[in-house]
Amino acid sequence: TGVEPIREALLHWYGQIREVRGMPWRKPFDGSLDAEGRAQRAYEVWVSEVMLQQTQVATVIPYYNNWMAKFPTTKDLAASDIDTVNSLWKGLGYYSRAARLLSGAQKVVKELSGRLPDNAKDMQAKIPGIGRYSAGAICSIAYNQCASVLDGNVIRLLARFLALYAPPKGKQAQDILWAGAEAFVEGSSRPGDVNQALIELGSTVCKVKNPACGDCPLQPWCRAYQKTQSDSDPVMEVA
Ligand code: ADE
Repeated sequence: TGVEPIREALLHWYGQIREVRGMPWRKPFDGSLDAEGRAQRAYEVWVSEVMLQQTQVATVIPYYNNWMAKFPTTKDLAASDIDTVNSLWKGLGYYSRAARLLSGAQKVVKELSGRLPDNAKDMQAKIPGIGRYSAGAICSIAYNQCASVLDGNVIRLLARFLALYAPPKGKQAQDILWAGAEAFVEGSSRPGDVNQALIELGSTVCKVKNPACGDCPLQPWCRAYQKTQSDSDPVMEVA
């Protein structure tokens, strides 16, 4: 099977749920933005992705809105200080995330004319705190570039989808999983939506325990699900 029908099913599902939880950082890609406007979108997605790394969507929403009211642009953030930034982070935990956003923004202003890089490779290389996942998320969502994402939720989803019975943190498994994540976005006209669909499907349907396979748009192609039909194993547990 080619990837196209699978992606269609995934995007159809995403179209039905994308607005449901009211995520303020989720805006349709706007191809008419200039470089400044695109960098602004990248900043918004950057902040949201850092907050979402260790914190649930419902908790993040009010923090994201407060942050954006206080620091609407990278420049506003860069002009702030660690105490102010930490006070806005109060309650979110993992405070090093806030410090990294601040120092990242200061580097962007000082060395990159106030704009986040316009591609994933430079973003990862030049901004401490932006790794492969964040660069992929920001560039696919804000720039519509075919960069892929692999977070804990997508790892679990893809490990099941491919019936990858290998420790998902091992080097070989990681290579296979990244290749799988890339196959999902490659050639897509909506890579940001594909990635957000994978992330959200992983966190809300393809759960660690009792995955809701009956609600999953990928079920017809899921090798772990197929195995449950042919023998009595429950869908494998992948933390
Ligand atoms: N978790 C991490 N990134 C996310 C996103 N863009 N949408 C929903 N949940 C997420």
